[in-house]
Amino acid sequence: MKGIILAGGKGTRLHPLTKATNKHLLPLGREPMLYHPIRQLTSAGLADLLVVTSTEHMGDVVNCLGSGAEFGCTLTYKVQETAGGIAHALALAEGFARGEKCCVFLGDNVFERSIAPYVRAFEEQPIGARVVLKEVGDPERYGVAALDEHQVIDIEEKPKEPKSPYAVLGLYFYDPQVFEIIRGIRPSARGELEITSVNNVYIQKHQLQYEICAGRWTDAGTFDSYFEANRILGEQQNRILA
Ligand code: DAU
Repeated sequence: MKGIILAGGKGTRLHPLTKATNKHLLPLGREPMLYHPIRQLTSAGLADLLVVTSTEHMGDVVNCLGSGAEFGCTLTYKVQETAGGIAHALALAEGFARGEKCCVFLGDNVFERSIAPYVRAFEEQPIGARVVLKEVGDPERYGVAALDEHQVIDIEEKPKEPKSPYAVLGLYFYDPQVFEIIRGIRPSARGELEITSVNNVYIQKHQLQYEICAGRWTDAGTFDSYFEANRILGEQQNRILA
């Protein structure tokens, strides 16, 4: 399985911190933000990783992360020229994935505990996609999953009236169909190719599985969530709990 870290986008919600640098290079605890997805993916056994970032900040990202030798992995880089959305960034990984399954980690997400159990579960899953959910107090900020007793029946991106408290977290598992699916989706009202549209296609195919996240989780895209991400990784000195 290949690992894909998406670190493009504009980071405007963290201005002025992101005026001169990429959000994903800001510190979390004692390390730059991007160290966290790399540590999570490598400690789950994934050693071939792609980092997608914007043209402006690619030089700084490469200076920060290098070849991956420091982390015991191989890093490949791809430029996303416009912030066209998460699925737009993922489309750039098609050549890298080479028909393998992939684990997609949004570069501003922080998981207190290891993602290894989700990786193992997807290794066993014969087909389709897998998402990780968590009950949150502010679901309207996220993709929100509606569930029946067995499965996810719909995901809505940032709904005004969420149908459940379950946010879809920024960790996604896909089989090789994902790139064909991305070619078939259209930009949303905000002009982005949404990962939620991709996940809804898997739901229509009855091929989306889910599990509930154990431990604390946050993104780091707003000031409040950035401070929470610092709290989590600061407290555990950037280590990942089992
Ligand atoms: O954190 C989980 C949430 O992430 C999900 O619940 C949502 O369904 C999903 O759309 C996303 O929501 P955000 O509004 O938080 O996404 P944001 O635009 O902040 O992008 C998250 C990461 O994705 C960002 O750290 C870098 C990457 N990204 C984003 C865009 C728009 C790219 O690599 N390229 C892009 O064009």
